[in-house]
Amino acid sequence: MNKKLKHSIFTLGASLLFFTSCNEQSPGIEYMPDMYRSRAVEAYSETILTADGKSALDPVSNSIPRGHNLYPYPNTNEGYEMAGNNLKNPIPFTEEDLKEGKRLYGNFCVHCHGKTGQGDGSVPTNSDYPPPPSYTGPLKDLPTGKIFHTLMYGKNLMGSHASQISKEDRWRLVYYVQSLQDPERFDTMYRGAEPKLESENIENTATEDVAMNQNQN
Ligand code: HEC
Repeated sequence: MNKKLKHSIFTLGASLLFFTSCNEQSPGIEYMPDMYRSRAVEAYSETILTADGKSALDPVSNSIPRGHNLYPYPNTNEGYEMAGNNLKNPIPFTEEDLKEGKRLYGNFCVHCHGKTGQGDGSVPTNSDYPPPPSYTGPLKDLPTGKIFHTLMYGKNLMGSHASQISKEDRWRLVYYVQSLQDPERFDTMYRGAEPKLESENIENTATEDVAMNQNQN
């Protein structure tokens, strides 16, 4: 092969290479094509390997996505009422659960609701945040299900606690809130204490009134 021919073959090759790499449609020379074009099927692409042509398989029927909530009551007034009428605490009462509820209350609730649930936590005390109603006042007879429902979805200014606190821990909190609502009723409901007679309660209130009047004098 003479020199001239060698030279022109080289020039042709070089310019071919040059123009190929300048073509925008082409990735240029692929040194190891397997690196670019994996043999594995790309997720959410088409494939001939499955019957419906989708590379991502459908979940098995009745499977529940991770983090999905099976809570049956919607975040509506009706849902709130239904939860109030139907929901029972699924965790059998133990003193340990109540203790854990108290610990969680100290972490998640006390700064708004206050130590004894009077609505006098540091947030409303030190800011314009409106104080939540007292557990022993307007919320004294709030039923189990409504307490849980509020932890699930939040209510007006109070946010939902479903993503921060597990379902079981929210039920432990319900126990603790109930112990603040009315300790005597709580003892009757969960610790097997004898219910107090109505007349005794009236007597107690009366004595308290007298005591208060005496203090005022
Ligand atoms: C940022 C302040 C804030 C925090 C934190 C907070 N709450 Fe509340 N909570 C409120 C306010 C305000 C209301 C009154 C909502 C309304 O009825 O408008 C309320 C209402 C409630 C009610 C009554 C709901 C009803 O059905 O009327 C319960 C029970 C309750 N909170 C429990 C808790 C518990 C338990 C925690 C801790 C996990 C908690 N809250 C954390 C502010 C807070």
